[in-house]
Amino acid sequence: MPKILVTGGCGYIGSHTVVDLIENGFDVVSIDDNSRSTNYLLDGIDKITGKKLKNYKVDLKNFDETLAVFQENEDIIGVIHFAAYKAVGESVEKPLMYYENNLCSLINLLNCVKEFNIPHFVFSSSCTVYGNPDSIPVTEQTPEKKAESPYGATKQMGEEIIRSFVKVAETNAILLRYFNPVGAHPSNLIGELPLGKPQNLVPAITQTAIGKLPQMQVYGNDYDTRDGSCLRDYIHVSDIASAHTLAMRFLLENKNTGKCEVFNLGSGNGVTVLEAIKAFETVTGQKLNYKIGPRRPGDVVAIYANNNHAVSALNWQIKYDLNEMMRTAWAWELKVKEDEELMKKQNPVLN
Ligand code: WQD
Repeated sequence: MPKILVTGGCGYIGSHTVVDLIENGFDVVSIDDNSRSTNYLLDGIDKITGKKLKNYKVDLKNFDETLAVFQENEDIIGVIHFAAYKAVGESVEKPLMYYENNLCSLINLLNCVKEFNIPHFVFSSSCTVYGNPDSIPVTEQTPEKKAESPYGATKQMGEEIIRSFVKVAETNAILLRYFNPVGAHPSNLIGELPLGKPQNLVPAITQTAIGKLPQMQVYGNDYDTRDGSCLRDYIHVSDIASAHTLAMRFLLENKNTGKCEVFNLGSGNGVTVLEAIKAFETVTGQKLNYKIGPRRPGDVVAIYANNNHAVSALNWQIKYDLNEMMRTAWAWELKVKEDEELMKKQNPVLN
């Protein structure tokens, strides 16, 4: 069984990917310092797969400790790198923390990849690298605009660091640009655990519906879109996860056309905020308490993916539609409520 190192394996997208890799015959080890995650998802992974995932509680900024994981697992043939800070707003408040964490950890990891001649590397990138695009849908060739936040800048820089690195290494890389990952695993054993007040739309919807938040705001209804609210490309987290397994297989089978290939991971459908809310209400039967508020600074007006490259080259099959995204997100919110005390005990940071 080929062994893959997943960084951030206890996080939202990382945990779903670990499950998909194991279900597709890969052996997986994880590095996650649990600074933004909890063992709760680790337990969920074990329950779904029936295997015990080995997670190294190591901060990737610590080079020696990171290197030791590679020394202990000399048979690693590929790395999927998720571990990073990802809150756009927080990155504006604490830019140095974002640059230091997201870039130092990437550089340390690539130094290990070089040291051990790891042939395959997959990177979590983001549609934030496109900024506010001139036309939609965006393809992988759509020119990048200046990032709207330090978080987005770390993804642009991360991509650039990898492009430079692979030119002089025996490694091939894939950059996966996620659009808006939402929903939870159909088993309802893993899902998203946002830190503090949720910034993202779907957790804001589910937390409002369950009563954790008194009311939610739609940030602006005067944009140039079909109903005035912003338009995004929501994609189920399990579909995002399966694309990682396919990307790793693509590299293993030497199907890549260059040293570094880029794929958009979106559904290819644009959905407005008001349409997303409507879908949630219809699927769950919950009436959402929301009001129209002012625009959120830094929001892109409208973006969705042209995903042809991933669909054709990776043979990526999207399984979940918007209704399923909302249904699984809601089921997960109900489960989180049930297990809240246990989660708080496991990681007080998540309160
Ligand atoms: C979606 C829409 C909000 C909350 C995210 C990540 C970013 C990147 C891309 C991966 C926007 C509106 C939200 C609320 C609202 N992903 N909204 N009320 O901004 O597209 O960015 O996906 O790297 O890192 O953060 O996602 O979920 O925050 O917002 O009206 O309470 O929902 O204005 O139009 P966004 P989001």
